[in-house]
Amino acid sequence: MITAGPTHEPIDPIRFIGNRSSGKMGIALALEAANQGAKVNLILGPTSLDSKHANITIYKIETAEQMYRKVDAIFNDSDISIFSAAVADYSPEEVAENKIKKSDTTLSISLKKTTDILAEMGKRKGASQLVIGFALETENEIENAKSKLISKNLDMIVLNSLNNKGAGFQYNTNKITIIDKANNITEFELKDKSEVAKDIINKIIELS
Ligand code: CTP
Repeated sequence: MITAGPTHEPIDPIRFIGNRSSGKMGIALALEAANQGAKVNLILGPTSLDSKHANITIYKIETAEQMYRKVDAIFNDSDISIFSAAVADYSPEEVAENKIKKSDTTLSISLKKTTDILAEMGKRKGASQLVIGFALETENEIENAKSKLISKNLDMIVLNSLNNKGAGFQYNTNKITIIDKANNITEFELKDKSEVAKDIINKIIELS
């Protein structure tokens, strides 16, 4: 199972809160896993990108809540779960039924925390399941990624740093560091996302 892309959290029928994720990294992972023979369930947030492969089943979702429900339904049957989606951490407390009209000079929207899908699945995972998370950090990168690995009970975490030129959202390239639960740290060069996907899948195979 792979989660990918952004989520969109509706404010009213017209607007949403989103982020800059394109879903490219998650789709590249799905293709690489499928090419290596895995049967992949790809839970994909709103993106114009697509992926067609006989081994990939795509479930399209919009919100963090919808992503959570889909993951919840298929996690127990997944040997390896990779959480590459950029999930909204907060969503509007209330969604306006009609378009919010312009009125005062400021507008406040009250937000509530979404479920941390990865942390929930980390708590639930069985002995034969592997759970891999992503971390996007802008400071104290290794330290923050390590603490996410532990607090979310992960087998491995892939760190993306926005401090690296050409890495992260919207780019075709990415620069990652992989940390596993035995505290092995592997740093990779800046590469095309399809090549990064190979490095990640190969590391997962080493772990399994
Ligand atoms: N994640 C998730 N559900 C959420 C938020 C995050 O499954 N509601 C997953 C992401 O897919 C990623 C990992 O958690 O694999 C880390 O996401 P990140 O945004 O780096 O960290 P957060 O835990 O949200 O913490 P913070 O934003 O404070 O750094």
